[in-house]
Amino acid sequence: MSPEPNIERILFTEAQVEQRIAEVAADISRHYAGREVKLIGVLKGSVFFLTALARRLTVPVRIDFLAISPFVSPKGAPGVVRIAKDLDDSIEGEHVLLVEDIVDTGFTVRYLLQNLAGRGPESLGLCTLLDRTTRRIVQVPVDFRCFEIPDRFVVGCGLDFKQLYRNLGYIAVLKHD
Ligand code: IMP
Ligand code: MG
Repeated sequence: MSPEPNIERILFTEAQVEQRIAEVAADISRHYAGREVKLIGVLKGSVFFLTALARRLTVPVRIDFLAISPFVSPKGAPGVVRIAKDLDDSIEGEHVLLVEDIVDTGFTVRYLLQNLAGRGPESLGLCTLLDRTTRRIVQVPVDFRCFEIPDRFVVGCGLDFKQLYRNLGYIAVLKHD
């Protein structure tokens, strides 16, 4: 028995991911034209997406990161989200774009958006690499997204299973999920 599951199939190839990130980066650049944007990444999953996105943006970009506590979900109950590492700097008066790897139930992002909104940003948006709307429990406004995905556990492009597979350039479904 293998201790780690294997890849079942690739949902989006590295080329497809790169192409889509370029398209979304163009949308974001248009949206923030003439302004500076601060990208806020959620460690660790969004790091790969955030850096790929940031390199494609044509507006001035600042970046900052926060980390949330491990998502504990006994018996499917939504876990409590808590900030384990906060931003380095204030976001007051800034145009802030929260960058996530995936929006699933929506609990994580709803908490983060509420928390960030309380810090007085000039504007606050949400950009996600993956969106799994079929599992949404709380509604959150997704301003920019790269891909809608089916109800299967995925890895790659920052997404992990037991901290593995984050470095895959493609997005894949695991064999047993
Ligand atoms: P939400 O609060 O249910 O929207 O959960 C989002 C968090 O769960 C994400 O930030 C991921 O860290 C994790 N997650 C949800 N689905 C997957 C998946 O398919 N692969 C890897 N991590 C996932
Ligand atoms: Mg995450």
